[in-house]
Amino acid sequence: MTQPVPRISVPAALALGSAALGAAFASGLFLGRWFPPWRSRREKRLLPPEDSPLWQYLLSRSMREHPVLRSLRLLTLEQPQGDSMMTREQAQLLANLARLIKAKKALDLGTFTGYSALALALALPPAGCVVTCEVDAGPPELGRPLWRQAEEEHKIDLRLKPALETLDELLAAGEAGTFDVAVVDADKENCTAYYERCLQLLRPGGVLAVLSVLCQGEVLQPKPQDKAVQCVRNLNERILRDARVHISLLPLGDGLTLAFKI
Ligand SMILES: C[S@@+](CC[C@H](N)C(=O)[O-])C[C@H]1O[C@@H](n2cnc3c(N)ncnc32)[C@H](O)[C@@H]1O
Repeated sequence: MTQPVPRISVPAALALGSAALGAAFASGLFLGRWFPPWRSRREKRLLPPEDSPLWQYLLSRSMREHPVLRSLRLLTLEQPQGDSMMTREQAQLLANLARLIKAKKALDLGTFTGYSALALALALPPAGCVVTCEVDAGPPELGRPLWRQAEEEHKIDLRLKPALETLDELLAAGEAGTFDVAVVDADKENCTAYYERCLQLLRPGGVLAVLSVLCQGEVLQPKPQDKAVQCVRNLNERILRDARVHISLLPLGDGLTLAFKI
């Protein structure tokens, strides 16, 4: 005798089907293939890890890092929080943009050991200048011998005080509209104030870069107590609606926003 086949309604069958599909995606198994571990449900990164063969290929076929810049990067990576330095491909992109627009004056918020400052300095003409802002005197002094070795020290104007003070001094000195490039890579709590002041200091056609705008995925759902991530999220919303700039958000490093002043 045949067993009766259990009957289920069409909506229930559809619900079961989509639940099974969801489970397949969630477990990373779909169409018989495992997704690599960085494809977690809460995306932490959008690109393959740096040590993946494809990323290594990309770097090996695109990076033209100056040898002293490379030494500075390797020295920086040995330091505590050395990985807070921007990535080499981000630095190279910003340097290329600076060259493209024939930049002479750049702003760099968050010097650290000066990797971004040196990358920009190398892209500027001999009379060019990078005003770089830092509150901690230690890391820039570690990097300074390499700025000198690259023969770029004279272009790097280190201001050791909170970046907001330096930006206000530049505005008070009548330097609004005179900078070609600005890089925002200091404390996140002040990122909106940095963005607004840098935009005033840039000339039309100038490029404003904001680093780490994805906060390692935390920007999707900031914890209420995480003010830094909340500030970055608010800035991302503001930039999206800002008619004074054209924008791109690139998945390089921890997210890089480029705003082109109109
Ligand atoms: C992400 S690191 C900068 C990395 C650097 N742009 C590079 O690519 O090597 C951030 C730096 O901002 C500095 N910083 C934090 N608060 C600051 C402030 N209020 N004003 C200026 N610099 C600040 C930190 O001391 C730290 O060195």
